[in-house]
Amino acid sequence: MAPKRVLLIVTGGIAAYKALELVRLLKRQGIAVRAVMTQSATEFVTPLSMGVMTEDQVYGDMFDLKEESEIGHINLSRQADLIVICPATANILAKMAAGIADDLATTILLATDKPVLAVPAMNVRMWNHPATQRNLKQLREDGISIMDPDEGAMACGEFGPGRLPEPPDVAARICTMLGQPFDTALTSGRSPTTIPKAFEAQPDFAVGTHRPLFGKRVLVTAGPTYEAIDPVRYIANRSSGRQGFAIAQAAAEMGAEVTLVAGPVHLVTPPGVIRIDVESAMEMQAEVENALPADVAILVAAVADWRAADVPEQKIKKDGNGIPPLTLTENPDILASLALHKLRPKLLIGFAAETEKIVEHATAKLAKKGCDWIVANDVSGDVMGGDNNAFHVVTKDGVESWPDSPKDVIARRLMERIADEFA
Ligand SMILES: Cc1cc2nc3c(=O)[nH]c(=O)nc-3n(C[C@H](O)[C@H](O)[C@H](O)COP(=O)(O)O)c2cc1C
Repeated sequence: MAPKRVLLIVTGGIAAYKALELVRLLKRQGIAVRAVMTQSATEFVTPLSMGVMTEDQVYGDMFDLKEESEIGHINLSRQADLIVICPATANILAKMAAGIADDLATTILLATDKPVLAVPAMNVRMWNHPATQRNLKQLREDGISIMDPDEGAMACGEFGPGRLPEPPDVAARICTMLGQPFDTALTSGRSPTTIPKAFEAQPDFAVGTHRPLFGKRVLVTAGPTYEAIDPVRYIANRSSGRQGFAIAQAAAEMGAEVTLVAGPVHLVTPPGVIRIDVESAMEMQAEVENALPADVAILVAAVADWRAADVPEQKIKKDGNGIPPLTLTENPDILASLALHKLRPKLLIGFAAETEKIVEHATAKLAKKGCDWIVANDVSGDVMGGDNNAFHVVTKDGVESWPDSPKDVIARRLMERIADEFA
């Protein structure tokens, strides 16, 4: 079934920043969102942030000929299943009630035959003003759905009705209007507020819209996992995390918003990368799912296949009664579970560390895991912890073998190959 489409009109209220969170929540429900911002709204939230969240152009100027010829205000409404105004200022409610159409947002609202939901947010006195209440009554009579604001302390220091309802409540109401269930399990995860931070951390790239992966979200895992045997002992492997960190760095340099889920390693976080540290495979899986949605996931981490079935709270003592048994149980297969996830990244790449029959094993892994590419490397030498690596990139179209190169060089080559895939 084609995803439902919401045309989100953001107007100039203090709560406009919450529209970013609303977009994230809607997208996690599988709803496509296109945004229109009034001139005042752009004083509160930048169109760049909104564009990163919607992964689309943000519309604002009715007289921009390019927009009008390519898409036009009529088409913007025609291509939507529902129009949502969030937050809706007292001003736009008044204009709608009066039938005024003096900018792109109000013209769309006057021209549309689609259902409209307004989510007002304003100072309590503005909300209680007879003019606003008169306008709301008129709008309800005109068939506009209006979500009541929350009551509570307001940014302006007053108390009463007028606060924007919490974004999950707005998202749930939108799902109801679209006739689809609201899956609360999909509300957790990364907050959009991390996005500007990621770009802040790489000032050279702040306006890097020309960079090939600008606007793309890349998720990378790196390093080993530690699987506890008891509070002081663990099962580990020799992965240093250097290849995954180099890939995360290359992705950030190419303008992507990068989340790096790292096992226990002693490496410096690359500039502009959001790093989440984990220890075990179970923790890594949870953080990987939390970091969705992503356009690309590159799972470089050497995740332990097994963990101890029972981990006692106290250290296992050497008490002369022989060697204690170590019973193992299987860890989750993060790659295979991402392949089946509701929010499966468009490009899902697994790594295969092999010591023999490299390409043969990687080709089998590609088929078994349901991912798009497998990057295989021969770890029989000193690759784990070493400076260099050689990749065999296995896709459904065949195998590309890249020569032994420094890890940062081969990381950039991989990210360039990924950028080509999206070009
Ligand atoms: C700091 C600040 C916060 C504002 N917050 C709100 C608000 O929460 N709700 C509202 O209705 N108007 C608010 N306004 C007033 C609107 O920005 C103003 O009415 C504007 O003309 C709305 O334009 P628009 O409806 O085209 O977006 C605020 C203005 C300022 C300067």
